[in-house]
Amino acid sequence: MKVLIATEKPFAAVAVDGMREVIEGAGAELVLLEKYSDKADLLAAVADVDALIIRSDKVDAEVLDAARNLKIVVRAGAGYDNIDLAAATAHNVSAQNTPGQNSNAVAELVFGLAVMMCRNMYNGTSGSELKDKTLGIQAFGQVGRNVARIARGFGMSISALDPFCPDAVMEEAGVTPVHSVEQLYKENKVVSIHIPATPETRGSIGYDLIASMPKGGLLINTARKEVIDEEGLIRALDARPDLKYAADVAPERAMEIKERFGDRVFFTPKKMGAQTSEANINAGIAAARQVIAFLTTGEDRFRVNK
Ligand code: 3PG
Repeated sequence: MKVLIATEKPFAAVAVDGMREVIEGAGAELVLLEKYSDKADLLAAVADVDALIIRSDKVDAEVLDAARNLKIVVRAGAGYDNIDLAAATAHNVSAQNTPGQNSNAVAELVFGLAVMMCRNMYNGTSGSELKDKTLGIQAFGQVGRNVARIARGFGMSISALDPFCPDAVMEEAGVTPVHSVEQLYKENKVVSIHIPATPETRGSIGYDLIASMPKGGLLINTARKEVIDEEGLIRALDARPDLKYAADVAPERAMEIKERFGDRVFFTPKKMGAQTSEANINAGIAAARQVIAFLTTGEDRFRVNK
């Protein structure tokens, strides 16, 4: 059995050590492809592997065609919009994720960004506090729930929108359920986005929602850049000089947006919500265990291409 870890953005070394222990401990061979920039390197590396572990690396039909022995691909992380699920199914490959394993890391980054934006990028001028401010969480999955837990410590007033989550789950967490996206944006000074990138959500957050935020509103996106309608974001920031936007990973027009709006916007240089050694260890080792369980027993309860 041959397992390839292919990560354009590598895991922390300590996580790779843990994954190696799981994989080699099960008698499988581990192959590492890190920091590659050329897709050809990935196509060559997958040629003879049984399993593939990735992060945000793209696994499309071309990669699956090249991976003639592949039986399983695990995205070490939550979002699996980087895997062509239909192609994986067509190639009889189990596509899996590791839900929840890096959610605290992403949630902590939300507050790293929030405090920085509220304190005017730490430039020495008077900013604002999070205590007693309203926070709207868009999607109450694993990351959203961790955001709520931390927000309680800040003393924020929290609400959330999630059509797939029962109100009772939110209420138990001290969160007020809201039932429309319009209400979420209109009523919350800070909105934190935690929706996946799907055909329904791509470009779904645009001018109307952003421009409806209360005075001094802050929108934080640690989910996917694709869910933002960039033209709408630019128009809203133009129309409302009091609004701010911080995102984990730059939008397509990052340079232009940064030049135009200065410190009212902030983008991490590289997607780094899950870039902690703890998250790398949790997600990486979970992925390695899922690979071994699948190859040895056929266990595939984390399969997403059902
Ligand atoms: C996820 O979907 O789990 C996060 O966005 C993490 O992505 P990354 O592994 O590329 O950091």
